This record gives sequence, structure tokens and C-alpha cells, in this order.
Amino acid sequence: MKISIIGGGAWGCTLGQVLIDNGHEVLIYDVNTKAVDEINQHHHPFFGNELPKEVRATTSIEALIAFSNYFLLSVPTKVIRPVLKEMNPKLIEPSVFINVSKGIEPESLKRVSEIVEEEVSPEHLKGFVVLTGPSHAEEVILRKLTLLVSSSKDMELAKEIQTIFSNDKYLRIYTSQDLIGSEVGGAVKNAIAVISGACTGLGLGENARAAVITRGIIEIVRVVEIMGGKKETAFGLTGIGDLIVTASSENSRNFKAGRKIGLGMKLDDVYQSEAQTIEGIRTIEAMHKLSIDHGIELPMINMAYRIIFEGMPVEEGLERLLSRDLKSEDF
Ligand SMILES: NC(=O)c1ccc[n+]([C@@H]2O[C@H](COP(=O)([O-])OP(=O)(O)OC[C@H]3O[C@@H](n4cnc5c(N)ncnc54)[C@H](O)[C@@H]3O)[C@@H](O)[C@H]2O)c1
Repeated sequence: MKISIIGGGAWGCTLGQVLIDNGHEVLIYDVNTKAVDEINQHHHPFFGNELPKEVRATTSIEALIAFSNYFLLSVPTKVIRPVLKEMNPKLIEPSVFINVSKGIEPESLKRVSEIVEEEVSPEHLKGFVVLTGPSHAEEVILRKLTLLVSSSKDMELAKEIQTIFSNDKYLRIYTSQDLIGSEVGGAVKNAIAVISGACTGLGLGENARAAVITRGIIEIVRVVEIMGGKKETAFGLTGIGDLIVTASSENSRNFKAGRKIGLGMKLDDVYQSEAQTIEGIRTIEAMHKLSIDHGIELPMINMAYRIIFEGMPVEEGLERLLSRDLKSEDF
């Protein structure tokens, strides 16, 4: 089986190695010529480890399209729409899109599946799957045990992707038909990870982190439900599983970005200090808009918005959260 990978960053290259391990063929497309050269010299551009020699890369979108009609989207969410706009007129046959990017478009509040439906002509769109769950590329590249979920409205396709990516050494994939729940959980957990990092930056401890994770899942559930997903999905790998791994780890760039914010760094400086994609901050922006548009309560996310985008001091944000009316936790 041939898979075209869009984005040769931390996750795209790592999944390239997975696919080679599983006996498939891959071609990675990236606009960064340095990353492409490194991949073609069998080096992972972010982790520096050796990549299997079968992992090849190109800067030509035409070569990517000619290679296969299975496209794995592994670029920052903000570039998915422009990349698809460029690809669509060049597509040759009905294509499957497998998305591993985790975000929601702040202006439109669209999920990646909706962006794909808008940008790819119906005659070229064979199906859409999201492959998501608790997965640091740093561990998968070392072939450490990881579980993910292949989620699609089309169960046959979800099963096909499950089979392609699963192996009996380190990667086990489950299926789900709750596409919305899976997409939303994977995106919103990054926002909560930023908040968890900010608490660490402020000098708070593990009690605070556990509180953020637990109350964070409540905010994720509210978003999943309002966007039309199943709340139960938020309690699986794509929700709480991904939240736990992201909100408590030094491997998470969302957590690390949050820690810098907790230490008082301004947004522009945070972006400048990180070479890689930080999806959580954009998701905080999106969720703040969703909370206003739909009147749903997302207290931690909205406070994070005020700190990051409106300049409220972190200490004041925390005090405001704690001074809200006291309430019951009964579900
Ligand atoms: N890193 C992880 O552990 C991990 C795990 C699961 C999901 N993800 C998600 O995968 C997505 C990508 O993350 P990453 O860690 O690989 O990010 P990254 O920053 O390491 O890599 C992104 C890559 O996309 C490339 N790119 C940017 N614009 C492009 C364009 N217009 N066309 C082609 N390529 C372009 C960049 O050059 C870069 O190589 C994010 O949404 C992230 O949330 C990451």
C-alpha cells in the first residue's frame, strides 16, 4: 500500500517510519527544503535519529499526488486549508484523507473533516478518517507502545486504516464511528495542556495539575456535545487519554508553551521560542469564540484566553477562577 504524507515534521516522519515498519511505501511532502534533504539523508529532521532508508521526501506536490491517492495530513491545522486548495485542482482520482493534525479553525470553528469537505471536490473525496489518541512522536519513533483510534463515519474505511497502521510490536489501533467526538477531543485537549503548563510555570504542583486535567475533561465534554459528538468518546483514548499524556509531559510543546506563559512570557515571544507547531493556543482562541457563540461555560479556557490574548496577569486569572461562586461536583 502507498501513502502520501503531507508534512515531514515530528509526527509526519514518525508515522512514515511506522508505515515502513508495517510493510507499506511512503512519500513525504514538505515545503521546508532543509527537512526534505534531511529525510532523504535518512535523518529525522526533529529528533535526529536514523530513519529507514525507504522513507523518501519531496518538495513537489505533483510528485506527492502522483504517488498515491491516500493522503495523510500531518501539517499544522492552520495550513490545511491552503494546502488542500493547492492540491484539489491537481487531484487525479478519488482520494482518502487521513488526518492526524489536532486543531479547530478559530474563525469558522470548523473541524478538519469539514475543511476537507469544503476544499476537496466531491468527485475527488473518497473518504475521511482521523487517526488520533495519546501519542508523543518522541516515543513512537522509538517504537514504544502506543494506542490510537481510527475514527470515521465510514466504518469500513476506519477498519482499513486500523489495519494499515496497527502492528503487533508497538502500535495498536481501535476504531470509532464518532468522528466529531474524536476530532474535538484531540483538538481541545491541547488547550487544556497549555493551561496545565501555565500552572506549572506559576509554581503550582501536582494537585493543581490533577485539578486542571479533571475539570479540563468537563470542558472537553461540553464542547464535544455542543459540536454534535458523543460525550462518552471524551472518556476514551481520544479525549482523556490524550489529555493525560499532553497535560503532564515535558514532551508536549503545548504544555511547554503554557509553562512559559505561566512564567510571564508574552505570546509573540512564546511563538518565537518554539520551532514547532503549538496548536493549543489557536484552539483556546477557537474555544473562546465557541463559548460566546453557543453560551457554554468553559471557565478555564476563557480565563486562558484573557491571559494570553488580552494581557491579564496570570495571577489575577487564577484568583478570578478561584473566586467564582462555589458549587457542587455532583454529575
Ligand atoms: N508531534 C507529535 O507528537 C504529534 C502527535 C500527534 C499529533 N500531532 C499533530 O500533528 C500535527 C503536526 O505536528 P508536528 O509535531 O509534526 O509539527 P511540526 O511542526 O514538527 O511539523 C510540521 C511540518 O509541516 C510542514 N509544513 C508547514 N506548512 C506546510 C505546507 N504549507 N505544506 C507542507 N508542509 C508544511 C513544516 O515544514 C513541518 O515540517 C499537529 O497538528 C500536531 O498537533 C503531533
